Amino acid sequence: DDFEGEGVWRYAEALPLEDGVTTQEGATPLYEVPRLEEDIGVEALRIKHEGMNPTGSFKDRGMTVGVAVATELGVDRLACASTGNTSAALAAYGSRGGMETLVLLPAGKVAAGKVAQASLHGARILEVDGNFDACLDIVQELAAKGEAYLLNSLNPFRLEGQKTIGLEILEAFREEYDAFPDRIVLPVGNAGNTAALYKAFRELVQAGALAEDEVPKLTGVQAEGAAPMVEAIENRADEVRRWDDVETRATAIRIGNPVNAPKALPGIRETGGTAVSVSDEEITEAQRDLAGEGIGVEPASAASIAGLRKLRAEGVVDDDERVACLTTGHLLKDPDAAAAAGADPEPVPADTEGVLASLAGESSPD
Ligand code: F0G
Repeated sequence: DDFEGEGVWRYAEALPLEDGVTTQEGATPLYEVPRLEEDIGVEALRIKHEGMNPTGSFKDRGMTVGVAVATELGVDRLACASTGNTSAALAAYGSRGGMETLVLLPAGKVAAGKVAQASLHGARILEVDGNFDACLDIVQELAAKGEAYLLNSLNPFRLEGQKTIGLEILEAFREEYDAFPDRIVLPVGNAGNTAALYKAFRELVQAGALAEDEVPKLTGVQAEGAAPMVEAIENRADEVRRWDDVETRATAIRIGNPVNAPKALPGIRETGGTAVSVSDEEITEAQRDLAGEGIGVEPASAASIAGLRKLRAEGVVDDDERVACLTTGHLLKDPDAAAAAGADPEPVPADTEGVLASLAGESSPD
């Protein structure tokens, strides 16, 4: 492919390979949201929309590297557990790399768009009668038995690719404001992005490209029904307690055992960040807020905005801060959640008079 040196691969120097199995991932937009910025009340607010990657989530950044490593290793079967997005990306990148893919999904808890992607890209889909954490336990055992090459975020090469989210945000802020963001707010599931961004910052500090006091505060957001990281931060615990029962409308982050916690907790603490949980209602409200600025995201992604709003209201976030919020997946990933959060279609007759009559009548509130 003629994509060398672009997107994720513009940062090849920071990656373990010079090029990957690519569908042109990375270089996602960093949107302005002036109404939301004013409403939440911070100096600057930007939305890094990872839903604009080829398969509609940040997972592509990890897969372009991880699947390339798998190619070098000569493995023939790739596998992951997934709440949906990882499976979509693995299926796409695996098929592009000419490898067999196996995905384990929690039955009935994966948004429609994601299953459709995994299916059409040719993954073998196993629906597990259990939650994501059970799927991840099983796929780790399959990998340990040599049945498949694991491409969950426990695979360090995945996180190498995801570092580029942080690098792009820092570069864009430096260009625009001649300063780095004070804070990066992101949804947390397995805490892979939190770990990846922290690693990116540490490497920049080591290289002398970023001063210690310029490192953005990593701020994680979880859904109230799946918030083991928040619990650990609030309790100043050294380890994260696994939650056996998790529930949230934001199915992408319906995770009780964040496997990257050992790498992510120090990232939140040492950057002076924090973690906060938000309700499903707050998530849906934030999804509408973003949609009102023309940005379509899935529920888990909106958690970042919901969390920022909450922390700003609590005074944890100052009004003079410049903030980047990560939105991790596209609206179309979860069409059912979008339809439920949005306005209902209005039935009208098939003639102009009838349509005009309907327009003149009460519009249906959402
Ligand atoms: N947002 C979305 C849309 C996700 O799909 C995920 C994770 C996260 C946030 C959490 O990111 O794990 O780095 O803290 N999805 C995984 C999956 C679990 O299987 O697609 P994290």
